[in-house]
Amino acid sequence: MTHFHVNGRRYAVEPAAGQCLRTLLRDLDVFGVKKGCDAGDCGACTVHIDGKPFHSCLVPAFRGEGREITTIEGLATNGELHPMQKAFHDAQAFQCGYCTAGMIMTAVTLTDAQKTDLPHALKGNLCRCTGYRSINDALLGTCNIEPDEAGKALGASLPNPFTDAIVTGKARYTMDLAIEGLLHLKVLRSPHAHARIVAIDRSAALAVPGVVAVYTWEDVPKRLFSSALHEDHLVDPDDVMLLDNVARFAGQRVAAVVAETEAAAEAGCRALHLEYEILPTVFDPVLAVQPGAPLLHDKDLVTASNNIFCTLQGEIGDVARGFKEADVLHEQTYSTTRVQHVHLETHGSIAWKGEDDRWHIRTSSQAPFAARQKLAYIMGIPPRDLHVFTERVGGGFGGKQELVSEDLVLFATMKLGRPVKWEWSREEEFIGATTRHQMTTRVKIGARKDGTLTALDVQVFSNTGAYGGHGGETLAAAMASPIAAYRCANKKGIGHAVYTNMTPGGGFRGYGASQTTFAVECAIDELARLLDIDPFEMRRKNVVRPGDNIESIWKEPNDASFGSYGIGECLDIVERELQKSNGVTRPEGAEWAEGQGVALAMLECGPPTEHRSGAEMRLLPDGTYHLACGSTEMGNGIITAHRQIAASMLGTRVDDIDIINADTDRTPYDTGTFASTGVVVGGKAVHLAAQAMSDDIIDFASRTTGVAIDQCRLDNDGVICGNQRISLRELHAEGAKVDHRFSVSRRAYLSPRTIAFNVQGVRLAVHRVTGEIRVLHSVHAADIGRPINPMQCRGQLDGAVAMGYGWALVENMVHDDQGRMVNPQLRNCRIPTFADTPHTDIFFADTIDLIGPLGAKSQGECGINPVAPAVSNALANATGVRFAHLPFTPDRLFAKLAAAK
Ligand code: FES
Ligand code: FES
Repeated sequence: MTHFHVNGRRYAVEPAAGQCLRTLLRDLDVFGVKKGCDAGDCGACTVHIDGKPFHSCLVPAFRGEGREITTIEGLATNGELHPMQKAFHDAQAFQCGYCTAGMIMTAVTLTDAQKTDLPHALKGNLCRCTGYRSINDALLGTCNIEPDEAGKALGASLPNPFTDAIVTGKARYTMDLAIEGLLHLKVLRSPHAHARIVAIDRSAALAVPGVVAVYTWEDVPKRLFSSALHEDHLVDPDDVMLLDNVARFAGQRVAAVVAETEAAAEAGCRALHLEYEILPTVFDPVLAVQPGAPLLHDKDLVTASNNIFCTLQGEIGDVARGFKEADVLHEQTYSTTRVQHVHLETHGSIAWKGEDDRWHIRTSSQAPFAARQKLAYIMGIPPRDLHVFTERVGGGFGGKQELVSEDLVLFATMKLGRPVKWEWSREEEFIGATTRHQMTTRVKIGARKDGTLTALDVQVFSNTGAYGGHGGETLAAAMASPIAAYRCANKKGIGHAVYTNMTPGGGFRGYGASQTTFAVECAIDELARLLDIDPFEMRRKNVVRPGDNIESIWKEPNDASFGSYGIGECLDIVERELQKSNGVTRPEGAEWAEGQGVALAMLECGPPTEHRSGAEMRLLPDGTYHLACGSTEMGNGIITAHRQIAASMLGTRVDDIDIINADTDRTPYDTGTFASTGVVVGGKAVHLAAQAMSDDIIDFASRTTGVAIDQCRLDNDGVICGNQRISLRELHAEGAKVDHRFSVSRRAYLSPRTIAFNVQGVRLAVHRVTGEIRVLHSVHAADIGRPINPMQCRGQLDGAVAMGYGWALVENMVHDDQGRMVNPQLRNCRIPTFADTPHTDIFFADTIDLIGPLGAKSQGECGINPVAPAVSNALANATGVRFAHLPFTPDRLFAKLAAAK
């Protein structure tokens, strides 16, 4: 028995053998202690033991004996936030908030001296969302929030409605649920990149104490589906089985074990014996299309050639003629790496049967409605028998636009009649979840002496890995806006999405466009260098303008349109800021070279396929409002933005609008929160619903008071009708007498699609011998229309740019020649820490979008796209060497610079 105090309360518990303090605390329902890795790498589990910070996942539970343990829940005293909680509150130092508890627990222990060196002091706490800027603000005592005033919500930096819950540890994420009779599911993953299961021996697994069931391909419905979630399921190939008898990548789940405890389920997996017939493998998409290459799927899933499941091609103008007209040509192959989303909350879901005889699934998903549809299909039940919903979601970035946990927990709970939970480990995220698609892009581009582009030819090989979800859509995105961003009469492209025995590609912020933006923006820079034209001028000369067709390589009509056009302003801002300089100089020494680079990105807000969203509003008896919208809040700030849109339309305070989201029982339908749709589709639905609510209130008030409707207007919590004022509370009571319910719902569809622009500028120093890079000045300008919440928009861009730097400089998933990832831990496959993340000055173009709600458009994705090419362009400017293959890690730079020398 171990005795300790947690937040002043005494406990005497018997830890399980080998149990860590983190899991023990969570077993005691202390859910403010989070899990991001289980290996001491992320800091999400930080607690104080006798006043000192520890990563509780590294502390054996029995070591708690006699200790005073404090978690985030114990930091506030007498209901007063601790000053550090208040600082995080005022700075809004979070987006999804999953890292916040651990971050605060570390921050409160820092001395003044440590606070002067935050990159070092916070090295043990990772945040994937914020780019650390707002966390820095909190430590500096900066207040980023504005007061919530009636009628002034639009454009105000208002706090997240869950701020208090996040900084006090009361916010409940997917796995923060104690549930009676819960079973735990774990999966066995294939060690082989291509193998057929030929024999299964479950006996040892079933003999493990606590194991309740073992499932393999023999037990599950034989229905093929795609784990990708879209409105139209036909855009993704149906190539996945709940559990398959063939593993097509190392890390694919091949069996599930359900047990009374997580440890028993893991032991059951270890005891399960599968025999495999090893099949030939192919990992390179170029080799995978060659005759004789091993085939991954049946012929009916591939198109023209081996393993190609999707080819997109087209030409406008005459590219051959365009190249003849060119004075200079540039041709180069560029490649980008696969990277993992590393949302700090791993995938997971919990399923149970409710008293209503329906199946309830609490999940960490960006698309609960699409998930419900797919689950119903897989299990052969009507969608109405399923309730899929989210609590707070700890980051997504596209990785949770995927059905990867809900299916097995539902299957198991339907079989066993007990609640079942499955929470992924960090290692599983690396080896079993989707990644950004690795793409290789060959660009040929020509221009006249004056810089006018004459022809552009882009060839893409996208490695979609073992399964094709998102493969076609990301390829379409890769072949679209990065090419359409430039006016050129002659454009041509061909792209192949190819199956290989690698981890499957999936949706990831930037969604295919990031990869070809890298290639095209580097190529534009190379042309500028050949022509001795300033890179900013080269872009100004050739970038699309209002009145141009938004054309990539297809003549077909495109519903993308300039709702606002701020790319010129973005280029001007970045050029001006770089010229002004921030005064940071390169390190001393002749080996340090300095260079500057710029890149732009254009992104259509929303996918070309259908996307829809609904919003419902009700006036409540107390005169406040209830808003329901199906979009998922995962740190993207969508519920904050939705409330501000509604409050703006109703002339009220956001605090008077209570909101629920992403729940198939309680909110209207929403395709899913991905592809930059949260504002332009979900927000549009809220805009329309709030307008309808305003109309309804004013109409009823006019009829109630007998004052002409044009003499009535909303006024915060009441309506002014002529010279009288009736409160919303009174109005609701009047409505109740005549059964008038003040309830409205509206839907929004995506089309036309507006377009967002981003420009990234980088000045850096690179050490010619060691390959070390130091970013000296980072500037980002975005045309996102009217920022609904400037602080939050800045935070989204900070996070996107930081992720761009991670992709360019830090992140590197390494696989061996058998397709196995060799570094599936955060300490070995790093994401940017505080120290790795340069400060970026963020600016907004002064535009108002004519398509998006209240002049706004999306910006969660596009900020990442110009970062890596801007870094490559700066490196080329500094060294004269083109770095065309990500990532730019020192070892790779060293090798290439040495070769160039
Ligand atoms: S969960 Fe403990 S450090 Fe990541
Ligand atoms: S806010 Fe830090 S991980 Fe999401």
